[in-house]
Amino acid sequence: MTTDWTAARKLVPLDPSVCMLNTGSYGPTPTPVFECANELRRRLAAGPTDFFGRQLPPLLWDARVRTAAFLGTAPERLIFTTNVSCAINLIASGLRLNGPGELLLSDHEYGAMEWCWERAAQRQGLTIRTFALPRQPRDPAEMIEAATRAMTARTRLLFFSHVISSTGLVLPAQEICAEARRRGILTVVDGAHAPAMLPLNVDAVRADFYTANLHKWLLAPIGAGFLAIGNGNEDRLQPLQVSWGYHPDDATVHPDARDGYGSTWRTRFLEFDGTRDVCPWLAVPSAIDFQTQLGWAAIRGRMAELAAFSRAKLQALGLKLATPDVPGMHGSLTAFELPSGVNGVKLRSELWKRRIEIPIIERRDRMLIRVSGHFYTTEAEIMQLVDVLPEVLKLSGAGS
Ligand SMILES: Cc1ncc(COP(=O)(O)O)c(C=O)c1O
Repeated sequence: MTTDWTAARKLVPLDPSVCMLNTGSYGPTPTPVFECANELRRRLAAGPTDFFGRQLPPLLWDARVRTAAFLGTAPERLIFTTNVSCAINLIASGLRLNGPGELLLSDHEYGAMEWCWERAAQRQGLTIRTFALPRQPRDPAEMIEAATRAMTARTRLLFFSHVISSTGLVLPAQEICAEARRRGILTVVDGAHAPAMLPLNVDAVRADFYTANLHKWLLAPIGAGFLAIGNGNEDRLQPLQVSWGYHPDDATVHPDARDGYGSTWRTRFLEFDGTRDVCPWLAVPSAIDFQTQLGWAAIRGRMAELAAFSRAKLQALGLKLATPDVPGMHGSLTAFELPSGVNGVKLRSELWKRRIEIPIIERRDRMLIRVSGHFYTTEAEIMQLVDVLPEVLKLSGAGS
């Protein structure tokens, strides 16, 4: 059975005047998911005391169970967060590491996350070191080798992305975590892009801490992310923000037993940060249902088609591919190197004048343009970009 992608796209309230090639930054919210979150917000608005006190606990527990099952982890280990930034701040601020020693990061980490570790290192008397990821690996073994070679007796913690934000490169997270574990190094995996883009099983990765966004490829409302706590790490973190949940209601109850709030004491300890809008978390099951109904195999097949289409068309313009085209080493993000001389600010402005939404990523060594292809992306949108790129690159100083 072939999926009617044109009909499926109609379920996503995209602005028809915009060529949307940036799911990698933020996913749009499909109408049924939006309506689910709004209905919950309506109930919250109409009776906040009843909502938080009586309606929320079973809804939150159900969301935790459904989300954990989708991600391949246990509900007792799943902390809902607003986003990956919250989760990394929680770990970077709440985890005590034994100094002296170092934090090891790949050289392609998301800038704001690097800053979290920079502050953690300063506060805990640790140093930071980065290792270079191969630019165009042909085999995942090259990345395992690069990460493993960088680990030393001083390394206390390894942080890397499952899917690199700038290039879309997919790392062999499970194998890298296994090498770190063998050496007694804690692992924190930034899976911001992984849920829905990859057939993710969080527990199989066996990271000490695994975090991701649900607002990107899963298309849950903005405000939905999670942190999964790996086995053996249940009691390592302190909350970033102390609130109810800091002390258990009843210390005789097992910390993993379901409580009266839709949590366990352990999850509530890290998750509850005071009164807040929890509707994005509660709407995650509806986002899971939405794409499950379209079919995961069909969606991933469509993503692969769109990635191949982007590769063919942008390479034909003379742009150098920055994402390996090897199966298993890329998902639905495809990046290309831009020619020298391009002014990023000017290029962004020229693209947006033409209503094209696509990120221009300025790294120390090169500038990249990154195409996102989700099921609602069309070949026509990619061609809209292809048709204007030669002109906008010239206007932005390419080759000068
Ligand atoms: C790899 C990676 N990590 C972290 C983040 C931060 O995500 P958020 O702003 O939702 O916390 C992003 C955002 O694009 C990302 O790509």
